[in-house]
Amino acid sequence: MTETWDELQEEVNAEMQKIYSETVIDHAMNPRNVGSMDNADGFARITGPCGDTMEIWLRVRNDSIVEASFMTDGCGTSIAAGSMVTELAKDKNATQALKISQQDVLNALGGLPEESQHCALLAANTLKEAVKDYLVLKNEPWKKSYKRQ
Ligand code: FES
Repeated sequence: MTETWDELQEEVNAEMQKIYSETVIDHAMNPRNVGSMDNADGFARITGPCGDTMEIWLRVRNDSIVEASFMTDGCGTSIAAGSMVTELAKDKNATQALKISQQDVLNALGGLPEESQHCALLAANTLKEAVKDYLVLKNEPWKKSYKRQ
């Protein structure tokens, strides 16, 4: 019996729903805040032990993160984690954003299978480094002119 494309798609979706929360699937399929940012106030690029890289850019006004964006060459769950961590970072000040942890990302995503939890760590660590970069540039603004992103 030949399955139609729609039936096949439904099967794939049903399989994914067994493994991932609705939020993970939503953020993996429709990621928020994707893309680089010109003249960002904070930036970090981290390659995790799995070999995947995440980049995060921040725009900060009055010590509040008004925009956060990300790019990754990683798996679907790293896309979901990057999407979620950039959502969580919005409207936070530097101190609050530094506290966003792997667990916060996992909680906001409704959990991840154990083998994918490091994707949330990569996202949280990249955000932390981007915030630290912002703090360095805030204290030593002349460094911005010499930065490559
Ligand atoms: Fe490397 Fe997901 S497998 S970030």
